[in-house]
Amino acid sequence: MNRTDGPGPGGFDAATVAKDFPLLGREVNGRPIVYLDSAASSQKPTAVLDAMREYDETTHANVHRGVYAIAEEATRRFEEARIEVGRFIGARVPDREVVFTKNATEAINLVAHAWGRTHLRAGDAVVLTEMEHHANIVPWQMLAAERGIELRWLPVDEQGRLVLDDLDRLLDGARLLGVTVMSNVLGTLNPVSRLAAAAHAAGAVVVADACQSVPHLPTDVTALGADFVAFSAHKMLGPTGIGVLWGRDELLAELPPFLGGGEMILDVRKEGFTPNDIPWRFEAGTPPITEAVGLGAAVGYLRHLGMEAVRHHDLHLTRYALAALDERFGTDLTVFGPPEAAARGGVISFALGDLHPHDISQILDEYGVCVRAGHHCAKPLMRRLGVTATARASFAPYSDESDVDALVEALAAAVRFFA
Ligand SMILES: Cc1ncc(COP(=O)(O)O)c(C=O)c1O
Repeated sequence: MNRTDGPGPGGFDAATVAKDFPLLGREVNGRPIVYLDSAASSQKPTAVLDAMREYDETTHANVHRGVYAIAEEATRRFEEARIEVGRFIGARVPDREVVFTKNATEAINLVAHAWGRTHLRAGDAVVLTEMEHHANIVPWQMLAAERGIELRWLPVDEQGRLVLDDLDRLLDGARLLGVTVMSNVLGTLNPVSRLAAAAHAAGAVVVADACQSVPHLPTDVTALGADFVAFSAHKMLGPTGIGVLWGRDELLAELPPFLGGGEMILDVRKEGFTPNDIPWRFEAGTPPITEAVGLGAAVGYLRHLGMEAVRHHDLHLTRYALAALDERFGTDLTVFGPPEAAARGGVISFALGDLHPHDISQILDEYGVCVRAGHHCAKPLMRRLGVTATARASFAPYSDESDVDALVEALAAAVRFFA
């Protein structure tokens, strides 16, 4: 990336931040990389890469088993990472409420299996929004097919916001509400605490998909008001292979296991097994230990940046990008989602003239600009928007105005190419 040094608004210096990310130093097609696909997966700072390497080189052993020194140290590092993550999201009981999963998708599947199969019966309703990622749709559709559950949908308006006019009717008789905190397509920030209050009043529990919000905004699960919150490490500067399910202690404690095997039991006899306490009850088999250390380091890194500062920077950059795109392309470019930056996080999906998003992405790649093109695992939303795909640029703390400028120039080149 070609960057000018110096702090941006609020003292946040994305150019300095970017220097912590080795991958951002590489070139693509002879040009400095401009990575604008952090909503799909973010890059990792040296602090995360070093923590994982240091753990593997000095400490690695399996956790919760060995009574020798490095096994105990590995267990301590793994459990410390859990507490780091729990504190980062405002968990009241971090050592019990944070479950490590493979990713956010598995976290939501865990809720569908363990909570859904013990609480939902034929005729019960589950309410989802039209802007959910497939990860918060398909597990409920699978359960609906198996149990005869009714799925209801909170609609999305022309500006990419949830329509709440019919909320009470939709929630009437519902047992669960699934809602994304921030849309991975529209960037929309949803009023989750208000929705959670309404859902609770109707007797429903709330599953919040926080995949996109945790990397962009301060997160306080208590203020959010949800009962379960899912997110993935690889979107918040951490490694792939690990995700998180946060659940309220009392709710998790009454749930049966999800997967069976080692780690999740207290005892096994020929006649049956006694499940472990939470959170280990939900962590069958050897967990992602190195990845937990990496996630702990990612949380430490974000904490050091300060999530208020990260949000401030994200908002500034979103505002800058919306203005720059509008100034250069006017009505030829359609941005999906709320027009005002304050209502969204740093994700911008757009259509440019009649160019296909895949063509846009391919031309942009020639300029080193990485954006996502496709349905973003949100096909019901694509149908609602009347498109099959969009191009999407998304930000992280290492993104800055120079990335947006490069995007705008590369888009102008795409327009010339296809003219
Ligand atoms: C809003 C949202 N939910 C869920 C997911 C699924 O995340 P993962 O593939 O890490 O399970 C994503 C990933 O794109 C997402 O953006």
